[in-house]
Amino acid sequence: MALRTIRIQGDPVLEKVCRPIEKMTPKIKTLIEDMFETMYEKNGVGLAGPQVGVLRRIAVIDTDGTPYVFINPKIVATDGEQTGDEGCLSIPGKSGTVTRPNYVKVEALDKNMEPFTLEATELLARAVCHELEHLDGILYTTHVEGELHDVYYDEEELEEEE
Ligand code: NI
Repeated sequence: MALRTIRIQGDPVLEKVCRPIEKMTPKIKTLIEDMFETMYEKNGVGLAGPQVGVLRRIAVIDTDGTPYVFINPKIVATDGEQTGDEGCLSIPGKSGTVTRPNYVKVEALDKNMEPFTLEATELLARAVCHELEHLDGILYTTHVEGELHDVYYDEEELEEEE
C-alpha cells in the first residue's frame, strides 16, 4: 500500500467526469487499498478517484469504522434534508454549510464487483452525496450557503480527547 497525492482545488482533474470501471484488476485493487490508506492518513471520511488523479467511478467512505467501497455508484432514492458543515480533503483547512438529503439509497458494486444496495442517513448520507459528486467533477463549494470558513484545530486538544 502507498499514500497517494491528494489533488487540490484548482487541479483540472477535479472538474472532469469519471468513466465507469468495467472489471476488477490488480491496479484497481491497489488503488482501493491506497485510497483507504490516504483517507485515513488525512483523517478524512471519504475519498473519490479524481482526488488521487484517477478518473474512474470509484469512492471510499468510512464515517464510523465501517469501510465502504463504491464502484460505479448511483443514488436511486433520497429523502429529507440535513444542513451542516462539510469539508473536503481537496480543499484543506476549509469548511462550509451545505444542505443535503438526510437519507440516500445508493446502488453500487463492491470491491469484488458484486452489486449491493446501501441505505444511509445523516453523516454517511452526506458523505455518499459528496463523494459521488466528485465522480462528476462537482465540488461541495458549489452548494455552500454563505462563505467558506477556516477550520482550526489544536493537535494537543485532539490527542487529549482520544
Ligand atoms: Ni471531497
